[in-house]
Amino acid sequence: MKRLGVNIDHVATLRNARAEKHPDPLNIAKLAIKCGANSITIHLREDRRHIKDLDFLKINKINKIPLNLEIGATNKMLKIALRHKPRFVCIVPEKRKEITTEGGLNVKKNKNKLSKFIKELNKKKIRTSLFINPNLLDIKLSKIIGTKCIELHTGKISNKIKKNKNYIKEFNSIKNCAKFANRIGLEVHAGHGMDYQTTKILSKIKEIKEFNIGHFLIGESISNGLKNVIRKFKKYMRN
Ligand code: PXP
Repeated sequence: MKRLGVNIDHVATLRNARAEKHPDPLNIAKLAIKCGANSITIHLREDRRHIKDLDFLKINKINKIPLNLEIGATNKMLKIALRHKPRFVCIVPEKRKEITTEGGLNVKKNKNKLSKFIKELNKKKIRTSLFINPNLLDIKLSKIIGTKCIELHTGKISNKIKKNKNYIKEFNSIKNCAKFANRIGLEVHAGHGMDYQTTKILSKIKEIKEFNIGHFLIGESISNGLKNVIRKFKKYMRN
């Protein structure tokens, strides 16, 4: 059975829109685990546009929540991770102006820096992962760098599937990458832009052990929860 990591960044986005306390990422993290999620992912961005330091600290304190902290490869972020030791760390590329993580890391260009980061995180027994594009060179380099896991960026295939375009080339590429990575001893994760259909399609690749899903999952939760919430309001209005 594959594991599902639920990315709750956009719970914080919604909370921040009013600068109030609701919805609370900590409560949603607890609820997601109770509902069967295997881990919680949060991206502590340099600009703190969604998840804030306090959210990270509160969620990280709860032992029952296996936390996957996404960070950019900066010394500041490394320091935070080493100090608070979340269960898992995934290093992602980060650009200030991007709306979301647009692609995988440039592993070749940042090999030395990433290698140093991974070594330090491994020393603290934190499970390490690199968010990369599905290509064999980045996988080979990731292995050399010493990461335990890789997460394959699924943005391209997700877009094709959503637009009803032919996605076979991307599917085969992800499949080959997952098989190769698995063969050389890396645990394979995947994520970005995934919805129900993408998940169904990519679940055919048995080497992928974990999916990390955020935006669509949180959006769907709003649609699915609406009926109950409206009923509750109507009940209060009867008094
Ligand atoms: N995995 C990683 C490494 C990410 O950076 C993100 C987005 O922040 C996701 C998965 C989830 O992507 P989405 O929100 O599109 O489901």
